[in-house]
Amino acid sequence: MSDRPRRILVTSALPYANGAIHMGHMVEYLQTDIWARFQKLRGHDCIYVCATDAHGTPIMLKARELGVSPEELTTRISAEFIRDFADFGVDFDNFYTTHSPENEALTVEIYEALRASDDIYTKTIEQAYDEQEGMFLPDRFVRGTCPRCKSEDQYGDACEVCGATYSPSDLLDPVSVLSGKTPVVRESEHYFFRLSEYEARLRDWMKSASLDRNVLAKLEEWFAAGLQDWDISRDAPYFGFNIPGTVDKYFYVWLDAPVGYLASFLNYCKREGTPDFDEYWRPGHDTEVYHFIGKDIMYFHTLFWPAVLLGAGMRTPTSVFAHGFLTVNGQKMSKSRGTFITARTYLDHLDPAWLRYYYAAKLGPTIEDIDLNLDDFIARVNSDLVGKLVNIASRCAGFINKNFDGMLAGALPDPELFEEFAAASGRIAEHYEKREFSKAMRLVMMLADRANRYIDQHKPWLMVKDPSRLDDVQGVCTQGINLFRSLMIYLTPVVPTIAASAREFLGDSDWHWADAAFPLLGKPTSKFKALTTRVDADKVEKMLEDAKETNPGEVFAGKGDDEDFISIDDFMKVDLRIARIVNAEAVAGADKLLALTLDLGDSTRSVFAGIKAAYPPESLIGRHVVVVANLAPRKMRFGVSEGMVLAAGPGGADIFLLGPDEGAEAGMRVK
Ligand code: MSP
Ligand code: ZN
Repeated sequence: MSDRPRRILVTSALPYANGAIHMGHMVEYLQTDIWARFQKLRGHDCIYVCATDAHGTPIMLKARELGVSPEELTTRISAEFIRDFADFGVDFDNFYTTHSPENEALTVEIYEALRASDDIYTKTIEQAYDEQEGMFLPDRFVRGTCPRCKSEDQYGDACEVCGATYSPSDLLDPVSVLSGKTPVVRESEHYFFRLSEYEARLRDWMKSASLDRNVLAKLEEWFAAGLQDWDISRDAPYFGFNIPGTVDKYFYVWLDAPVGYLASFLNYCKREGTPDFDEYWRPGHDTEVYHFIGKDIMYFHTLFWPAVLLGAGMRTPTSVFAHGFLTVNGQKMSKSRGTFITARTYLDHLDPAWLRYYYAAKLGPTIEDIDLNLDDFIARVNSDLVGKLVNIASRCAGFINKNFDGMLAGALPDPELFEEFAAASGRIAEHYEKREFSKAMRLVMMLADRANRYIDQHKPWLMVKDPSRLDDVQGVCTQGINLFRSLMIYLTPVVPTIAASAREFLGDSDWHWADAAFPLLGKPTSKFKALTTRVDADKVEKMLEDAKETNPGEVFAGKGDDEDFISIDDFMKVDLRIARIVNAEAVAGADKLLALTLDLGDSTRSVFAGIKAAYPPESLIGRHVVVVANLAPRKMRFGVSEGMVLAAGPGGADIFLLGPDEGAEAGMRVK
């Protein structure tokens, strides 16, 4: 390998702006982040960009449902994405949005180039149309009975029962999921890209792109089935970019989404003043471009996208890296099982370094699915990260701190052992490079075992009792700390926060991969602080409980539209009454709940309220609150709740009970 730094551009797929980031997404963003951090640590010029995927029908409809503009929805969701990713240590060089001027300009430029090369034509097609909503319906927005097996309530493009694929007009009793009305068939002129003419050029690209075997097999399957031209337009109303020369046609979201990679990169180049955009996206340069994606979007990235780039005279990706899907405890993530865990729910309870390590320990370069088994997660993190790795440092640092004023010895007692660790550098790097993260982790942990054995053999805790052997104690601990340091350098891409604390303890200013080859000797260290803790099974349990309570669809509370109003009659049905809290106590096993006993004048009720963070139970006894007295009793995990206490505020510690204390009397009606 030459010494010149490689120039690498890395992307992760752009997350859709209609939901929260969850554990499944994190597989991809962590895989990419680890790889990009690895390249940077090796001294390469690596830029990692991403963006919010802002366009398309689902996002337009979600915004409508929330009563906000799609721009506002995507801006707010982008802000949440950025926070979630930052808290997980995903270190983008730029995170942008596809709804940007750069993206519109680049998309139009590519489209014009495709037109100039005669790759675009128009054709009139028939499509389901919802007359009440005044819009064409994407296949997934039509449901009905499968024409083959007669199963009811199937999507407009495929039957989930028998696997048949068809078009919405084949459904036996089609209805629009938007209005519930029967759609009509309407004609519309659409724009098509001649993908069918790209097989030979795609095959050439395939050969150079060193794709994973599974990906190649998929491509062969698609070639065998025959490439169809691609419909790249949608009719208004649509949230996207208008097609130049038309009034009411828009680019299909999947045309401008991958262009979003270029747009985010261009935005970065403009901001930083470097590098030169053209060196990464025009042919004829030695720069490298890699897309990390999930296996569900391979068709878009290995057929449509390279073909569009080829047609537009741009460079094609050096490779496309596809990963598998995440399952939780062996099954698809599910809201009802409480395994639909958002990034935020995880972060509320657990250390992001643990997930980063766990995913790394499981990830390989193939599209095989990976499982987040929570018992295994606890065991793995505790045994490897804490028990093996951090343990090396904590066993040695105490002696260095206490007996030698933090000073490391001037020489290693066992330089050969240190050399063994340094010599592993090449193999570990190769594993990272090939996205064989699990192999890299295994090798590092084998070396960690070796380091712990070294300490076990020399027993500094016994030697320290013999004043004549103090030098040996300092030597052995310096050896241990240096072995730890090399491993920590190798693990920096995976657990950057732990590595940063370790670096601080060692007084190293910056780490480069090659630093693992040179020991740190005769230098002062600072006081050793715990680098991470063991995973507590209770915390995992709490996270799962929280996941059950959080509705991942509720990305933010928006305004409701007209249909969400209740009438005055509905309101009058709500029996609001003053109650006196006669008893309040914490609920064993529930994080946020208090069990309240309420006096309503004529009766006593048991009610659960999620206000524990705001009010210690004792402080509530004797206070008056407003309750909904005629709410149907609800069976909860902890018992039956016979009403609801009203409160205001954003949640957590900021919840304010509504209740007039002066002159209030239990049982009084509020309206
Ligand atoms: N917006 C498109 C991508 C456009 S790229 C030009 C999209 N968005 S997504 O939000 O649905 O998914 C983003 C990425 O997360 C995709 O690569 C997808 O494969 C990945 N994952 C989403 N759910 C996943 C799992 N459950 N498991 C692993 N990866 C998953 O697709
Ligand atoms: Zn069927």
